[in-house]
Amino acid sequence: MFFAVSSDSQPRKLIIAVDGPAGAGKSTIASRLARKLGYINLESGAMYRALALKAIEWDVSFDDELALFKLAEGSSIQLQPNLGGNRVLLDKKDVTQRVRERDVTEGASRVSVHPKVRQWMVSHQRELGKDGGIVMEGRDIGTKVFPDADVKIFLDADPVVREQRRMQQQKLRGEVAETSAAELRDRDHRDRTRATSPLEPASDALVLDSTSMSEDEVLRRVEGLVQQKLET
Ligand code: DC
Repeated sequence: MFFAVSSDSQPRKLIIAVDGPAGAGKSTIASRLARKLGYINLESGAMYRALALKAIEWDVSFDDELALFKLAEGSSIQLQPNLGGNRVLLDKKDVTQRVRERDVTEGASRVSVHPKVRQWMVSHQRELGKDGGIVMEGRDIGTKVFPDADVKIFLDADPVVREQRRMQQQKLRGEVAETSAAELRDRDHRDRTRATSPLEPASDALVLDSTSMSEDEVLRRVEGLVQQKLET
């Protein structure tokens, strides 16, 4: 673990944003980095997944922005950082496994296009990260949730490689394949082209193409940037 000391002798607690498309390696890098720094790792996508699950359970259309917003307002969505990723609680019920299933994955991508839904999510995500000491991963963390984040990483990779990694990750987690390659491409397209907060790197993000980089190499680059920040 490494840290720097600020003028009042307290370790500085940074806000670190890790954005990028599915399968680029965000979760692994974010959780390894958080562990090294003694920070909390939050998977913001799990919040969209929890809302999509609630919409399925309450029979609310993924296209009905206002109904989804009201549903979100009446819900409790909690993320509990864990070694293997976040534990997800929806209205106090553990839905960690359920939110990784295919129907929820598709739903999360669809509910996340709505500005009102995003507004609700962003305000909760800001609240979760406001004290720093956090690595938050998602699609809009460096652009919208924490535009002043101390460190911003945008992790990308070739689509074929991302598809393979996603499948591998699902196998390791013992999950049912949540998605096919074609579905992954559809979701990617929706995330990148939606009108509100499309997936794109912040202008001041370090953009890393991890196609031919090992996990350790990516982590070293990111740690280098964090270290620089802690020394300034
Ligand atoms: O990271 P993930 O696969 O769990 O994300 C699920 C969906 O949520 C994804 O299709 C895009 C959306 N999402 C988003 O729009 N903004 C975020 N900060 C995180 C996820």
